[in-house]
Amino acid sequence: MLTDVSDDLPRGLRPTTTTSIPKDCHASPFDLRLQVGGGSLRYARHIGARVIATAGSPAKRDLLRALGVEHVLNSRDLSFAHDVRKLTGGGVDVVLNSLAGEAIGRGLECLRLGDRFVELGKRDIYANSPLLLRPFRNNLSYHAVDITRLIADTPAEAAAAFATVTGRITDGTYRPLPHRAYLAGRVAEALSSLRHSRHLGKVVVTFSGTEPVEVHQRADHAPLDPAATYLISGGLSGLGAATARHLVDRGARHLALIGRRGAGSPEASALLEDLDRQGADAVAHAADVTDRQVITRIVREAAEQGRPVRGIVHAAMQLDDAPLDELTPDRIRRVLAAKVHGARILDEVSRDCELDFFVAYSSVAALVGNLHQAPYAAANLYLESLMRRRRAEGRPGLALAWGGISTPATSPAR
Ligand SMILES: NC(=O)c1ccc[n+]([C@@H]2O[C@H](COP(=O)([O-])OP(=O)(O)OC[C@H]3O[C@@H](n4cnc5c(N)ncnc54)[C@H](OP(=O)(O)O)[C@@H]3O)[C@@H](O)[C@H]2O)c1
Repeated sequence: MLTDVSDDLPRGLRPTTTTSIPKDCHASPFDLRLQVGGGSLRYARHIGARVIATAGSPAKRDLLRALGVEHVLNSRDLSFAHDVRKLTGGGVDVVLNSLAGEAIGRGLECLRLGDRFVELGKRDIYANSPLLLRPFRNNLSYHAVDITRLIADTPAEAAAAFATVTGRITDGTYRPLPHRAYLAGRVAEALSSLRHSRHLGKVVVTFSGTEPVEVHQRADHAPLDPAATYLISGGLSGLGAATARHLVDRGARHLALIGRRGAGSPEASALLEDLDRQGADAVAHAADVTDRQVITRIVREAAEQGRPVRGIVHAAMQLDDAPLDELTPDRIRRVLAAKVHGARILDEVSRDCELDFFVAYSSVAALVGNLHQAPYAAANLYLESLMRRRRAEGRPGLALAWGGISTPATSPAR
């Protein structure tokens, strides 16, 4: 941010003050009554609008009053809609919202006939939350605004808006927001205040010419044990195969790679040749990870051969994407099998192993869902809770929620 704007700072402003200039100043094309964000407040003042504001903590409400907001209500209490109607004798012209969940419905109730709801919050949009439509009988409109998208998709318009804001700061129309500057060495404190919503106004991280920034050297990872076996379910393709290569780069010399097709998996022969060239003994087991007997045997034999399993990566997955109304119990079971039953079996049969890690490959779909992938999202959620349970029991466990990754084996068809 600083480097983007520092060539063109409005006269008389220091960089820390400039970074506190609210980006919301770009975003308020409407008459405004109920507001979020100090930038919107500046804009509302500029156009002569009366503002009713909500905030979630007494300190923030005090700040809004100090900034001259006439009516300040509590956003944690959904009765604000009733109060707004009472204060205005019927409702407001524009609701500028960043509250989530039920508060959105309450916000819509604050509007008068034909007026506008401007959504700055992203949580419900990304969660694909439903919206009750009855308030729209009043000819209301709902606008979602994501400034990051505006900047990425329409950079010329965003630059023009920024120039307007800069002009209004230079001529004193907009004043910078209250802000607190932290030296870079205290960045953890700055982030913590944001995370716990303890900040008022903007949080700015700044560098002083005199105070050195503490830099921590990344700890070198201990090499893997060349005498141990590392087991990867789904290790003969895609991310599992990439993981096998990674473990060998890190010093692993014995791998048990599990997939139902075993060495017959399309990527297997190239993978096994590569690993062999690197001096690793990788065995492709044609096995189903849900077959307890077979998995037990693979783990037992590794121990009997003096190369006990010391690490597990559970990457096996089976997809079967479909809309909910086309799913059958069998189709759901098929998707759950590799991830859920496979994880449970690996968890149970490795109880006597001295594991350094147990990693389960989850997906961002567990967090945000994915169209046509309900069972897959559920299976990943199971993995994440199983890993939490392992950790609670003092055993290693880590779920990695990958985003979309393109590997040779991740063709669109799969
Ligand atoms: N690639 C991505 O973009 C992405 C994104 C988020 C999360 N992830 C996660 O990363 C992991 C690997 O993904 P990927 O894209 O690399 O998948 P992939 O190429 O489709 O590989 C999945 C592997 O699992 C094996 N498998 C399926 N069912 C099995 C079973 N019952 N027993 C044993 N092996 C079984 C398959 O081999 P067989 O068919 O021969 O059994 C295949 O080798 C998955 O857990 C996935 O959820 C991937």
